[in-house]
Amino acid sequence: MRILSGIQPTGSIHIGNYLGAIKQWVELQEKNECVFFIADLHSLTIPYQPENLQKNIIEAAIAHFAAGIDPQKTVFFVQSEVKEHTELCWLLNSVCPVGDLERMIQYKEKTRQFKQNINAGLLIYPVLQAADILLYKTDAVPVGKDQVQHIELTRAIARKFNQRFGKTFQEPKALLPKMGAKIMALNNPRQKMSKSSSPQNYISLFESPEEIKKKIMSAVTDTGKKIKYEPKRKPGISNLLTIYSLFSGKSIKELEKTFQSKGYGFLKKSLTELLTNFLEPFRRKRKELLIREVFVRETLKIGAKRARNIAQFTIQETRSKMGLI
Ligand code: ADP
Ligand code: TRP
Repeated sequence: MRILSGIQPTGSIHIGNYLGAIKQWVELQEKNECVFFIADLHSLTIPYQPENLQKNIIEAAIAHFAAGIDPQKTVFFVQSEVKEHTELCWLLNSVCPVGDLERMIQYKEKTRQFKQNINAGLLIYPVLQAADILLYKTDAVPVGKDQVQHIELTRAIARKFNQRFGKTFQEPKALLPKMGAKIMALNNPRQKMSKSSSPQNYISLFESPEEIKKKIMSAVTDTGKKIKYEPKRKPGISNLLTIYSLFSGKSIKELEKTFQSKGYGFLKKSLTELLTNFLEPFRRKRKELLIREVFVRETLKIGAKRARNIAQFTIQETRSKMGLI
């Protein structure tokens, strides 16, 4: 299968991104043809500092390599280095109804969040995402729950294009992790863990042992002492159990049993230890890569070249179907 996904270079990659997305990518690259990229063009639609963008892109690339993405197995690149993404976005714009774009949940959320800067890019955002996906004739897109609506729109755009211009694109499906599709914020377990919120809400993949300890020990838990997985009534402890289960490979049931009589403090201490040990190789690898920036840049360049080879083929086909030469 051809698998594709992207992530925006908008902040520190956290354990929610890892469990909801990157972990699947690392597994998928073993048996599939994978294309993964840093969606820098998408990130221009919200306020950002141009002088920090390159640093954030390199940081994001290093984070993925440190977390197990292997650029030998996976085509890994920076979106803006493959101009076919923007070209296909423009071509697809003409088959995408504005009404569909206005209905997107992420668009509504972002326009509420950034009232001072409701730019056209925010509205077109899902068409660029559809271009990212359709350009590589993708079969499946591993993402978290929040992106499912964008994948559905991608399918609709592919369908519309095929009806109007003849079969060109296949409809991709979303691949959701069974568990971990929505890790919640540590300081507010009713909200999703997100890198665009305050650092208190997440644990970065490269957090120091001291910070891991601080953040887990002060994570919001619920009233009552019972350690039970009940996301509605006990969102705090349920979130910690989910994180524990996904990093340890132990089932929730098993964890409930182990910690039943031990209390929140003990669970938190044990989770701190688990995370510190699990993330240690990630921290080490990142440190090694931080001093090899030239190598990282070269790797991204090679990735972009490989991506372009596939993308150019689709663009030629699309242009010709639409009557352009
Ligand atoms: P963020 O909201 O932290 O800025 P992005 O929107 O860049 O993250 O998402 C990158 C990937 O990580 C997407 O596939 C998204 O679905 C997934 N993801 C983001 N937040 C979480 C979370 N809290 N739990 C699980 N997956 C998540
Ligand atoms: N919109 C996605 C997010 O915020 C990032 C993204 C851009 C993406 N292009 C993509 C994800 C293509 C999957 C496929 O997480």
